[in-house]
Amino acid sequence: MSDREFSVRPARLADVPAIHALLRAQAAAGNLLPRTQENLVRHVRDFIVAERDGTLAGVGALEIMGPDLGEVRSLAVAPAFHRQGIGEQLTRALIAQAGVVGLKRLMALTYVPEFFARLGFEVVSKDDLPEKVWQVCVKCYKFNRCDEIAVMLRLDAPAGAKASAGG
Ligand SMILES: CC(C)(COP(=O)(O)OP(=O)(O)OC[C@H]1O[C@@H](n2cnc3c(N)ncnc32)[C@H](O)[C@@H]1OP(=O)(O)O)[C@@H](O)C(=O)NCCC(=O)NCCS
Repeated sequence: MSDREFSVRPARLADVPAIHALLRAQAAAGNLLPRTQENLVRHVRDFIVAERDGTLAGVGALEIMGPDLGEVRSLAVAPAFHRQGIGEQLTRALIAQAGVVGLKRLMALTYVPEFFARLGFEVVSKDDLPEKVWQVCVKCYKFNRCDEIAVMLRLDAPAGAKASAGG
C-alpha cells in the first residue's frame, strides 16, 4: 500500500470513540463545533470515515436540513494526514450521497472556503440558509457572533456548471 492510500466507508458504532476524539481536538482548536459521544451515536449513519491501516484518518457527515438542503458537517482530517487528498475524497463521497438521496443544495459553514471552492461550492450569505439558522444555529454557542463562512453547492445545476465537482 502506498503512503497515500486510504479507504472511505460508512461509519460504524465502534468508530464513535475515535470520531469523538478527532472532532474534540478540532473543536478545541476552534475549527468545528463540539459533539458529544451520545450525539455521535444517534447520528452515526450520517458519517463516513477514511482510514489507513486501521487508523481513523478523517471523518465527515451529511446531515439533512430540509426537503432539498443538506449540510456537510463535522468534516475533519487528523493533522498527521492533512494535504493528502483525504478531505477532498470524503467531501466528494458526501456530495455523491447528497445526489443519491435527491438533495438539491449542499452547504457547509467553514473557515476554509478555499477547500470547498475547489469542489464547486460558492460563498453565500447566511441569510440564504433559514433552515440551518433556525434548526441548529439558535442552539449554537456562536449564535449572533458566528464568524464562519457559508458555502453552497447546487446539485441541480446544469452539468457544465458543476464540472469541477465531478470525479
Ligand atoms: C479542511 C480539511 C478537512 C482539509 O482536509 P485535507 O485532507 O487536508 O484536504 P485535502 O488534502 O483533501 O485538500 C485538497 C485541497 O484543498 C485545499 N486545501 C486543503 N486544506 C486547506 C486549507 N487549510 N486552506 C486552504 N486550502 C486548503 C488545497 O487546494 C488542497 O490541495 P493541495 O494540497 O494540492 O494544495 C482539514 O484541514 C481539517 O480537518 N481542518 C480542520 C477542520 C475543518 O476546518 N473542517 C472544515 C469544517 S466545514
